[in-house]
Amino acid sequence: MDVNNNTRVADHPIADFFKDRWSPRAFGTETMSGDDLLGLLEAARWAPSGLNAQPWRFVYSFRGEPQFDALIAALWEGNRGWAQHAAALIAITTKTTLVLPGSETEVPNPGHAFDAGAAWSHFALQAHLNGWSTHAMGGFDPAKAAAALKMPEGYAMQVVIAVGRRADADQLPEALRGRESPSPRRPVLDLAFHGTFPL
Ligand SMILES: Cc1cc2nc3c(=O)[nH]c(=O)nc-3n(C[C@H](O)[C@H](O)[C@H](O)COP(=O)(O)O)c2cc1C
Repeated sequence: MDVNNNTRVADHPIADFFKDRWSPRAFGTETMSGDDLLGLLEAARWAPSGLNAQPWRFVYSFRGEPQFDALIAALWEGNRGWAQHAAALIAITTKTTLVLPGSETEVPNPGHAFDAGAAWSHFALQAHLNGWSTHAMGGFDPAKAAAALKMPEGYAMQVVIAVGRRADADQLPEALRGRESPSPRRPVLDLAFHGTFPL
């Protein structure tokens, strides 16, 4: 399959990178440097967040490192098979509390998970622009992942991201090969309602 064959069509004009980013499972052997990765996390840190609390904490490791293997072991089996070939794994965790302006007390931050989504999106789009591919995974054992990261109390696991150079789908097992292409989206008019939800 030609993995460059992106047939996504937007209903309205948008910048190409929104349609061109997608989540492959076939990763090549190319390694990633610390600078490469920090260049992507730089974009993530500029994401907006409620009260500018910046609740995200990124914990990363590279293929070949023991921390990478520990995180791979926390993934669901269906993710483990392909994610082990990624160049790096990034766990996005969030601080679940914040200190309100004028206060010194930690209170729950209801927006921490929402804000992590914004950081993930910045990360994924910057990765795409830099020639890297990303694949987010919610399929992991949260307790095992938290232990692998030595995550302190007061933080929550959000997602594990596999990053690497996209490779040919032929290297994937048969069952995954057919899914190795950009997926479609619902039409915008199925998702956006003027004024109220339709009856
Ligand atoms: C929060 C989150 C969790 C996800 N979890 C998994 C996962 O566990 N395994 C997987 O193969 N893909 C996972 N995905 C990838 C989505 O299935 C994928 O982003 C979606 O189908 C849209 O495809 P695209 O990213 O190629 O545009 C996850 C994506 C997100 C944002």
